[in-house]
Amino acid sequence: MLKVAVMISGGGTNLQAIIDGIAGGTITNTELAVVISNKPGVYGLERAAKAGIDHLVVSPKDYADREAFNKALTDTLDRYSPDLIVLAGCLLILPEMLVKKYENRIINIHPSLIPSFCGPGAYGLKVHEMALARGVKVTGATCHFVDAGTDTGPIIYQKAVEVRQGDTPEILQRRVMEQAEWIIMPKAIDGIANGRITVRNGKVHIAEG
Ligand code: GRF
Repeated sequence: MLKVAVMISGGGTNLQAIIDGIAGGTITNTELAVVISNKPGVYGLERAAKAGIDHLVVSPKDYADREAFNKALTDTLDRYSPDLIVLAGCLLILPEMLVKKYENRIINIHPSLIPSFCGPGAYGLKVHEMALARGVKVTGATCHFVDAGTDTGPIIYQKAVEVRQGDTPEILQRRVMEQAEWIIMPKAIDGIANGRITVRNGKVHIAEG
């Protein structure tokens, strides 16, 4: 059974897709051990509560400095000894020591087709503003393993989404979530939980089936 810790920062629609995937049987051999938010009062915490999942806030604002926060976050995660950490709409840059400690056991969902519209400063709605400003006809989402960089880890899945005339960043964000994020993140978790997805020397291997 894959023990998963999910990290969120907001509405938690990606978390909800994972909860629904486990309930609906499209994600198997997986249990959500804890949901951790770096922001208090976000709706994602209510989604965790409704699903009966342990949930808590570890916010940088509650610590004297970044080092103390990093230690608190790492200690909290370690308490649940997760096999996989899932960044689901998580806007936190993880401390390097955490990424090292959980090497190849952290995955992220980014709302563009990496390497487009990613890297420092490219998150949330901003990503879709960048895509619309560039005038791309196709965008999408990327699920990838997290490494020491920002949105630079080995790619697991990508899914393309069309950009339509008149799209606003909000409309495009919604379409990318519905047609891409909420599909490829659960698929990646199920693949990891059932040994179909592995990563070696920075390369992702996906067994068919
Ligand atoms: C999503 O577009 C996600 O990719 C981005 O934030 C948005 C909201 O995510 N990081 P969620 O609804 O909190 O899962």
